[in-house]
Amino acid sequence: MKTKVGRNDPCPCGSGLKYKKCCALKQQQSTVEPLKDAYLRKYRIRLKEPKDIEGIRRCGKLVVETLKAVEAVIRPGMETEEINAIVHEMTVARGAVPAPLNYRGFPKSVCVSVNEVICHGIPGGRVLREGDIVNVDVTSILKGYYADANKTFFVGAPAPEAEKIVRVAAACLKAGISMVRPGNTVGDIGWAIQDLAESEGCSVVREFVGHGVGFEFHEAPQIPHYGQRGQGIVLAPGMVFTIEPMINLGGKELKVLKDNWTAVTRDGSLSAQFEQTLLVADEGCESLTPYPL
Ligand code: MF3
Ligand code: CO
Ligand code: CO
Repeated sequence: MKTKVGRNDPCPCGSGLKYKKCCALKQQQSTVEPLKDAYLRKYRIRLKEPKDIEGIRRCGKLVVETLKAVEAVIRPGMETEEINAIVHEMTVARGAVPAPLNYRGFPKSVCVSVNEVICHGIPGGRVLREGDIVNVDVTSILKGYYADANKTFFVGAPAPEAEKIVRVAAACLKAGISMVRPGNTVGDIGWAIQDLAESEGCSVVREFVGHGVGFEFHEAPQIPHYGQRGQGIVLAPGMVFTIEPMINLGGKELKVLKDNWTAVTRDGSLSAQFEQTLLVADEGCESLTPYPL
């Protein structure tokens, strides 16, 4: 005897609709609604509805296209200010707003972080040289929705050290993403990243973490890139957050320069980062800023 109703079977209520379009949907809505309330009250986490997710996904497409446009022009001899100009103009041309500009006093439209700069590098007169690595972190606001992603690029041909740190940082984001599904925890994500980074002899930056995103630039929860399996908040469908591990070739310690933004490795070692905006979906994980890893 068949007892389980398939999602494409006729709904047992007799409506004539498929089960997934009828009572399965109602049941899902009735389980998401109380969860929404509980996550807001307990953790200040704002779960996203389908219309919100579509808005963030559209913004995410723009962010990924912007990263592609930057990648196409990266070359030795260019100033980081040129990257700022490209990101700013492309964002505005699509009817979006660059989120970093004037965010808590940040003076530019994108973060550009070269070599030992961990994150929050301010574009300007620094000239990219053959063998550098450069992270470009783009956050756009489109119709009120935020999406946030970054990549680390090679300038010309990389030395083995540069190749290694970029490879490990990308693998760390991939490992973090592989843990994203309902029922897993925030600690599972951090554990997977830390385990991989340290097994390669690299270190994980602690001072900056992933974050909820979508309605605002930085929302609850925080997503540390280190941690313990099974610890922390349980992931629920409708959560949208970034994973953005900053991985150092040497020690994990950092300092912030006098401009109050630029974070650099204390030992001067190379640092690389990759970031995507992720949705916890019923089936697991969907990247809202997808690019190959
Ligand atoms: N995009 C960064 C992040 O991933 C935040 C940059 S804040 C800024 O969270 F002000 F520097 F833009
Ligand atoms: Co972010
Ligand atoms: Co970012």
